[in-house]
Amino acid sequence: MNPNKALWEKGDFTRIAETMRESGEMLVQRLGITKGLKVLDLGSGDGTTALPEAKLGADVLAVDIAQNLVEAGNKRAAAQGLMNVKFQEGDAINLEQLSDKEFDLVVTIFGTMFAPKPFDVAKEMVRVTKPGGRIVMGNWIPNDPTLVAQILKISSNYTPPLPEGFVSPMSWGIEKNVIDRFSAAGIPKEKISFARDTFTFNFPGTPSEYVDEFRNFYGPTMNAFEAAEKNGKAAELQKELEELFTSQNQSGSTERTSIPATFLRVTVTV
Ligand SMILES: C[S@@+](CC[C@H](N)C(=O)[O-])C[C@H]1O[C@@H](n2cnc3c(N)ncnc32)[C@H](O)[C@@H]1O
Repeated sequence: MNPNKALWEKGDFTRIAETMRESGEMLVQRLGITKGLKVLDLGSGDGTTALPEAKLGADVLAVDIAQNLVEAGNKRAAAQGLMNVKFQEGDAINLEQLSDKEFDLVVTIFGTMFAPKPFDVAKEMVRVTKPGGRIVMGNWIPNDPTLVAQILKISSNYTPPLPEGFVSPMSWGIEKNVIDRFSAAGIPKEKISFARDTFTFNFPGTPSEYVDEFRNFYGPTMNAFEAAEKNGKAAELQKELEELFTSQNQSGSTERTSIPATFLRVTVTV
C-alpha cells in the first residue's frame, strides 16, 4: 500500500474539514471564479474548496488520493445538488488520466504539499494547466507559530525520523523551494507570487475536545499518538497539544474553539 494514500485514508479527514468550511468558502470567493471556468481541485479532500468553486459556476474536477474522501466528496456534492463537480481518485505525482493544458485554474489547498516527489507534482500541475491559466497553492509554513505548523512540529517529535530521501511536506512553505520546483517545470520566477494568508479552524467544543478530533481522525496526529503510545509518551503528547490549542483559542469562550492559522498562498501564472 502506498504510505501517502494510507496516511490519508486512515481516520476520517472529513471530521477536521468540517471545521475548515468557512475559510474554504472565503478563500474561493477571492479566486476570481467565473461560470464555466475549468477548475482542477487537487488533494481536494471531501471538497472544502471544490464545492464552493462549483457553487460559483466553475466546472470542477476534484482529485484526491484517498478513496474514502473521494466518496465523501461525491456524497456532499450530490446532497447539495451540484452537478458540475466530480470527485475521482488520483495521485498528484502522476496525473496520467488528465490531458495537457486542460484547466484554467488548478487549486490545491493544503493538498499536494503532502505528496512525495514535489518536483513531479509541480511538473504535473503545470502540464495540465492551460497557457495563461493559474495554479493556486496553500501551504503550511515550517516553524510558523500558528496551529497546523505547530501540530505537525509537535507530532514529528513523537514519530520516527523521516526515511532517507523523504521530502518534508512543510518544505512547500519555503518560497525558494517553490521557485526551484516550478522553475524546473519551466515557469520563470517572475510568474510566481507569494502572500501570507489565514485559515481559521472553528470547532463547536472545547480545545481539549478538538485535540481528540485530531487524535482520533487526522492521519498525521493518529500516527504520532500510535508511536507515542509505544514509548509511553501519549499523555505527554496530549498535554502539549492541549496547551497549544488552548493558548491559541480566540473564540472568547472555553466551550468553543476558534483558531487562526497562517499559510503561504502561492499563485503561479502558466
Ligand atoms: C490536509 S488535507 C486537505 C484537503 C482539502 N484540500 C481541504 O482543504 O479540506 C490533504 C489532502 O491531500 C490529499 N493528498 C495527499 N497526497 C496526495 C497525492 N499524492 N495526490 C492527491 N491527493 C493527495 C489527502 O488525501 C487529503 O485529502
